[in-house]
Amino acid sequence: TDTTPIPLHDLTWWKRPAAERDADFAAIRRERPRMFVPIGPASDSGKAKGFYAITTYEDVLEVSRRPEDFSSGIGGTQIFEQPAELRAYRGSIIDMDNPEHARLRKIVSRGFTARNLASLRDEIEDVVSEILDEMPQSGECDFVSSFAALLPLRIINSLLGIPREHEQFILDATNIILGASDAEYIADQSAAGINAAVTEASKGLIDLLDSLSTERIADPQDDLISQLVAAKGEENLTPAEMARFFILLVGAGNETTRNVISHGLYVLTQHSEQRDRWLADYEEYASRAIEEMLRWATPVIHFRRTVARDGVMLGDLEFSAGDKVVMWYTSANRDETVFDNPYEFDITREENPHVAFGGAGAHFCLGAHLARLELDVAFRMLFERFPDIHSVGEPDRLNSNFLNGIKHLRAEYTSVT
Ligand code: HEM
Repeated sequence: TDTTPIPLHDLTWWKRPAAERDADFAAIRRERPRMFVPIGPASDSGKAKGFYAITTYEDVLEVSRRPEDFSSGIGGTQIFEQPAELRAYRGSIIDMDNPEHARLRKIVSRGFTARNLASLRDEIEDVVSEILDEMPQSGECDFVSSFAALLPLRIINSLLGIPREHEQFILDATNIILGASDAEYIADQSAAGINAAVTEASKGLIDLLDSLSTERIADPQDDLISQLVAAKGEENLTPAEMARFFILLVGAGNETTRNVISHGLYVLTQHSEQRDRWLADYEEYASRAIEEMLRWATPVIHFRRTVARDGVMLGDLEFSAGDKVVMWYTSANRDETVFDNPYEFDITREENPHVAFGGAGAHFCLGAHLARLELDVAFRMLFERFPDIHSVGEPDRLNSNFLNGIKHLRAEYTSVT
């Protein structure tokens, strides 16, 4: 077996065409599915620094199901641990273990239950209709800024209770925080430049949270900021916990679903026969098409865990406390032992237990219902209004190995009269 290190943490590895990465991941799953990826020189003790790449579907699911062995709290869930000055702003529940995780997740999960979300459908329809009205009624547009990014942005802002006038600021700030490795969002790509920009964006979000919370204390509303404010008193949510929660929610709400919408339009344009089939009977294919777009796009490429104690096993691999493991959802979602013809986009796929929302277990995406609802309403209404909308050319991709993002995508369409 080839043991040449494959630098999955390195952005240049990700800049290659998707087909090349897919082929590499297929070989990794086959030949060394739990390979060690070294990063930098060995530490003083002689132990190599780096992480184990978890690449098969079965392993990703198992790691995600065992939070007591594979911790999110020890050092967080990013491949590279955050510099100290940024740690204050990052994480919240995504970077926690029990009992804190359960205590804090409960506070906002009420706002995300299926029952609450049912009443959201009407609101999402209103927002989509408004966005469609704002788009040029025929011709061309940047599909990301005119449609795909606006829907999740307006919905998460409305759920949190952020007034419309802050919309552009929220978009810019979350682009900087989650798209930090892309020069379009942060021109100075030195470590100091990135830290400064992310710190400034995070501070700006916290200032906004502070002023909105002050308003909510005086005048509570039916929104998540009011819930967080109430929890601050009732459940001892600290100001720092509240700030991290807020940043997590605006980021997760904004920077994920939009990429499924953009990848979705792009892949449906490439597969016009499937798109025609879907449009001929939207209802018949909707839920399968949405799951397939989620699998296809896998907007979140990976999350990390840290081994909690010596002797933890995964199959026949024994770990030591502190070992890092990275779950590559992007690879798991193409695992040929689970998905027939995994490299084919197929809206009629019956079995589609993808891990786009993060496997299973305690950290399963809190926004999964919301994202699915947004995707359903988005495509339904988009195709009703502009049945011939299609992407033109190649997407302009985010420079990242964490988010499978599309920054810009040209679309063309004629109006229906
Ligand atoms: C967690 C993906 C939309 C809020 C996660 C995780 C993934 C993920 C992979 C697991 C993190 C882990 O295991 O460490 C996605 C994708 C989305 C999406 C692909 C869209 C297609 C949303 C939305 C929200 C949201 C719209 C709403 C605000 C969260 C939160 C967590 C989370 C709060 C942390 C849950 C916890 O740690 O208990 N998401 N997400 N996500 N997501 Fe999403």
